[in-house]
Amino acid sequence: MKRLTVAITGASGAIYAQRLLHHLDASSEVAQINLVISALGATVIREELELPVTGARQSDAELLLGRPTTKIALLPVKDVGATIASGSYPCDGMAVVPCSMGSLGYIAAGIARDLIHRAADVMLKERRALVLVPRETPFNAIHLENMLRVERAGALILPACPSFYHRPQSVLDLVDHLVFRIMAHLGVPHPTETAWQGRRPASE
Ligand SMILES: Cc1cc2nc3c(=O)[nH]c(=O)nc-3n(C[C@H](O)[C@H](O)[C@H](O)COP(=O)(O)O)c2cc1C
Repeated sequence: MKRLTVAITGASGAIYAQRLLHHLDASSEVAQINLVISALGATVIREELELPVTGARQSDAELLLGRPTTKIALLPVKDVGATIASGSYPCDGMAVVPCSMGSLGYIAAGIARDLIHRAADVMLKERRALVLVPRETPFNAIHLENMLRVERAGALILPACPSFYHRPQSVLDLVDHLVFRIMAHLGVPHPTETAWQGRRPASE
């Protein structure tokens, strides 16, 4: 049973976080999810998902999920003294979904002024799974260098690049395929119907 951290920062693509929480909350392999939402993360959620999330209330988890949950605990982003700020607290993996270029920069520089950046820093120092899902286009040289820097420090860069080989029929199909890739790297079993099965016969 895993204990995971999900952080939502202010890049476009709040739906990736929403679907990740949906699947992790439903997973029998996941015992607990600590959720942290940055101020701009909450802004983007309100903008893109039209949910009145503040980033500071436990009810944000229910709003994102669309149902009650006992598995997700919301931790305030300013509380750098929260459990996940310490390496002594057991945490099996962390995903920053989506990951803004701002948060990427903080993590790459090792500057831990909020709980998201501190928790990510802890994952790297403890050699635990840290999945960053950056979203920006185009990238400048600073973004690219920061990605390389965190990858070399042990993070996994899993950009929000949807794929089409599984023939998605909806936005949800596109999003979920990427979310399943995140789950795979967090070591959580996930549906595999959309995984590449090899080339189809030409008539299909
Ligand atoms: C609607 C909206 C969309 C944004 N989209 C992106 C984005 O896709 N990528 C990005 O790096 N920043 C994006 N930003 C800018 C970040 O939110 C901003 O840099 C912020 O300071 C990041 O802080 P955080 O990492 O603490 O959330 C967006 C901002 C808004 C308001």
